[in-house]
Amino acid sequence: MRRAVCPGSFDPVTNGHLDIIGRASRLFDEVIVGVLINQSKSGLFSVEERIDMLREVTASYDNVRVESFRGLLVDFCRAQRATVLIKGLRAVSDFDYELQMAQMNIGLAGVETLFMPTNPLYSFLSSSLVKDVAKWGGDVTPHVPDLVHEALKARLVPPA
Ligand code: PNS
Repeated sequence: MRRAVCPGSFDPVTNGHLDIIGRASRLFDEVIVGVLINQSKSGLFSVEERIDMLREVTASYDNVRVESFRGLLVDFCRAQRATVLIKGLRAVSDFDYELQMAQMNIGLAGVETLFMPTNPLYSFLSSSLVKDVAKWGGDVTPHVPDLVHEALKARLVPPA
């Protein structure tokens, strides 16, 4: 079985993430979305909330499951018996750091990284940008699933 991991913070999941997950699900038998538990960085949403949102928005994909992980990504891949990582590349600016991580991960554990060009519709999109726009009352409906939009509205009160 060909298994791939789509890792990230997903705080929160955007349409850009979903596009990559959906495309990966057509290339692999199973895709595991790995949500990083980062104790040194508190997010807007808890890891449980991020997972719940991801599970809802990927529910239509039979071969996608969502799990959390802490520690090294390659250890998570090994535990999940996945040999491939899928990373979306939005722009050249993503490439330097992603290349470093890909080379480290193959050296650490032989885990391959496949880069998938982001759909141009989402090439400017990031969770941080979405949160900033939503915080100030901007319209993020084209950029996130509806349930994420609702969660953002409930969580973010525009500063006075
Ligand atoms: O969505 P993000 O925050 O850009 O995702 C970054 C992520 C989770 C892919 C990266 O931080 C990661 O792999 N963290 C796990 C720790 C690890 O394995 N570090 C070494 C990477 S070579």
